[in-house]
Amino acid sequence: MDRRIDRLQRIGAARPGTILLSGGLPAAELFPKQALARSFLTVLDQPNRTNGLQYGWPEGDLALRSWIASRLRRRGAVHVQSDDVIITSGAQQAIDLAARVLYRPGDRVGVDAESYPAALDLFRSRGLQLAAADERVAGFYCMPSVSNPRGLEFGPAARQCILNRLETGDVSAIEDDAYAELRFDGTETRPLCADAPDGVLHVGTFSKVLCPGLRVGWLVPPRRLFQEMLAAKQEADLQAGGLAQAVLEHYLRTNDYDAHVAAARDFYAGRADALVTALRKELPQASFCEPQGSFAVFVETDLCGDDIDLLSVSLAHGVSFDPGRAFRREGRASPLSMRLAFACEPAERIAEGVARLAAAFRAYVHRSGDRAQTAT
Ligand SMILES: Cc1ncc(COP(=O)(O)O)c(C=O)c1O
Repeated sequence: MDRRIDRLQRIGAARPGTILLSGGLPAAELFPKQALARSFLTVLDQPNRTNGLQYGWPEGDLALRSWIASRLRRRGAVHVQSDDVIITSGAQQAIDLAARVLYRPGDRVGVDAESYPAALDLFRSRGLQLAAADERVAGFYCMPSVSNPRGLEFGPAARQCILNRLETGDVSAIEDDAYAELRFDGTETRPLCADAPDGVLHVGTFSKVLCPGLRVGWLVPPRRLFQEMLAAKQEADLQAGGLAQAVLEHYLRTNDYDAHVAAARDFYAGRADALVTALRKELPQASFCEPQGSFAVFVETDLCGDDIDLLSVSLAHGVSFDPGRAFRREGRASPLSMRLAFACEPAERIAEGVARLAAAFRAYVHRSGDRAQTAT
């Protein structure tokens, strides 16, 4: 992440009273603390077992892998068996391992015009070049079910375009499904790996729906790459945290996860509404799409400027956001854009946060004078 953005976000997070419209954090009030505490104690109390405290195999807990495989089968990826799943230390590690095995420095990776910053940073740090999906590429990184930062599903044409390219057998796709379960309308999307099992490395996580602190995600590579991916996982950190896996597996076996997901969807849909309403009222000149899921809205303007300067002005007005440049494939700051997260703040604070943002915008434009002219 750009050091200046990191520094400003830390200042905002530490300053009491700042309304945080930045970050891809889930709402802490949804963390199933009591149920996880019960699972934790039960797991530790099991006689004659290692209770997740012992080393395990690099691929992870078999029962957990089996749960993940059956969930993917339910969504249409009927080929996925427990033996196809590798438990990772979050989705971030799964993306890292996939990129490490698939690409070499200098390779071009097709990504959307805006995408998940930590994946873009990772690709750049590996010496990979970011390209548009319709260019000549060695592979793709995409979020077909629910994208970050826009919270939208791929249209049928974009999906088909990638599937056509995968059919040639020359390229692979990393499918990041981090937000797939958080579709507000409850649609269970069909993962891309269901339609191209041999070309897609499917990535998932419990971070968004359950809690990121467990650091449990997964990777389902094509079978031909499984052993290579497993070796990469072992080289990286031997295995994902055993205790977190054991607690999670017990939690999933003894609680109604579908009910938790449904409640989370309704909860976030309400907050998304609050943000969209506030944006229409306070920043009518900005453009955005209503998200179908996820934690955020990507807001665009036609003003030239520096989004980090704008963040600095916004923090002085008591509100934070994620500067749009971090999401852009090209890294451009102009025209000004931003990702606004609705997940972590209640509706009244979202409304107040957007009002503060509108005031910050006015102050920024006033201060920048002619430099904030409409971009051509
Ligand atoms: C699209 C996307 N993929 C992956 C991740 C990383 O998830 P994890 O916490 O499982 O590493 C995030 C987190 O913000 C994300 O937004």
